[in-house]
Amino acid sequence: MANDTEHDLETTLTAIEAAPDADALEAIRVAALGKKGWVSALLKTLGQMSPEERQEKGPAIQATRAQIADAIAVRKQALDDAELERRLASETLDLTLPAAEAPQGSVHPVSQVMDELAEIFADLGFAVKTGPEIEDDWHNFTALNMAESHPARAMHDTFYFPDRDAEEQPASSSEAVGKQERMLLRTHTSPVQIRTMKDEGAPLRIIAPGRVYRSDSDATHTPMFHQVEGLVIDKDIHLGHLKWTLETFLKAFFEREDIVLRLRPSYFPFTEPSVEVDVGFAIENTRRVLGGSGDDPGHGWMELLGSGMVNRRVIEFAGLDPDEWQGFAFGVGVDRLAMLKYGMDDLRAFFDGDYRWAAHYGFSPLAQPTLSAGVGERA
Ligand code: DAH
Repeated sequence: MANDTEHDLETTLTAIEAAPDADALEAIRVAALGKKGWVSALLKTLGQMSPEERQEKGPAIQATRAQIADAIAVRKQALDDAELERRLASETLDLTLPAAEAPQGSVHPVSQVMDELAEIFADLGFAVKTGPEIEDDWHNFTALNMAESHPARAMHDTFYFPDRDAEEQPASSSEAVGKQERMLLRTHTSPVQIRTMKDEGAPLRIIAPGRVYRSDSDATHTPMFHQVEGLVIDKDIHLGHLKWTLETFLKAFFEREDIVLRLRPSYFPFTEPSVEVDVGFAIENTRRVLGGSGDDPGHGWMELLGSGMVNRRVIEFAGLDPDEWQGFAFGVGVDRLAMLKYGMDDLRAFFDGDYRWAAHYGFSPLAQPTLSAGVGERA
C-alpha cells in the first residue's frame, strides 16, 4: 500500500508538472483531491483505523495531500504567468492607430459672434464689460433719461418682478420708495453704460455684450435675445468718431471692405443727436448679402443699429460732468448680426437647443477668432 501511494504520488506530481493548461490541472486535482479522488479515499480510511495505526499512517497521508496541493498551486502560478506573458506579447497597443472619434460639441453662433466682437473691439482699445440681467428700474430707464412717464418705456415690453414694497406695505407708503428700485429683467444692454461710468469714471472705451429680455415672440423676436452695447467717453469726441468706429467694426466683422453705412437722424432718449445706422445690401440667391451702397442698382438699405452722442443728462446721471466729458454710444442685436453673417433665417431656432442646428451652424471650439486669420473662420 505504501508503495502504491508513493507510485500514485509520483505519477500525480509528474502529471501536474506536465499539465498543459488550467483545465488539465483541474482534472488532475479532481482525480487526486476531489471528493472521489484517490487521496480523499486514503483520508477516509483514517476513520476506520485504530488510534495507533492512525498515528503511524496519518502524517504520511496528510503529507501526500499537502504535497499535491502545493504542486498544483505552483503549477497554476506558472501557467498563469505564461498566459500573461503570452497576452503581453500578442496584445500590443498600436499607438499609431487613430483614436476612436468622440463626439465634439460646437460653439453656438451667438457665443462665436460675441468672441468676434470682443476680438475686433479689443483691437480698437475697447474693454469688455458686463452688468446684471436682473436690473433695477433706475439703471435700465431713469438714468438713461427715461423718466417714469417717458413714452419710450412703453416700447420695451418690460418683464417686471413683483413689487416687493407694494406687497409688504400699504400702497401709500411704498409709492415714495419709488419705482427706481423696482426690479426687472433688463430690456437692453444700455444700463451697463451707466454702471461702468459710475464705477470707473472717464475716459472709457467699452463694449458690453449680453442677454436682454422683452415680452415679445415671433420669427424675428424671442423673449430673450442678445445685444452688444458700445460706449466711448472722452474729450472732444464727435459723430465722425462714431461713424469711423462703426465702419471699421462692420468691415472687420463682415470681412469685406465694401460695407457702406448711411446715418439717419433718429430718436433715443439716451443720445442727442441720435442716429439710426443703415447698411447697404444686395439680394444674392434669396439671401441678403451686405456690401455696396444701398443706392446702387439692385441694392437696398437695411436698418442695422441705433447710436448717437451720449445725452448730457445721461452723463450727469452717471456722475460725470457733461461739460468736461462727452462721447458716443451704440447698441446692436448680436443675434441679428449672426443671422446676417451666417445666414440663419429663424431667430427662434437659436434657442431651441436642437443638436442638429448647433452641429450645422456651430463653430469648432478649437478655432478662435483672430484678426489675422479671420474672425469668422469656420474650422
Ligand atoms: N438700447 C437701445 C435698444 O435696445 C439700442 C441703442 C440705441 C443703444 C442707441 C445705444 C444707442 O447705446 O446709442 O433699442
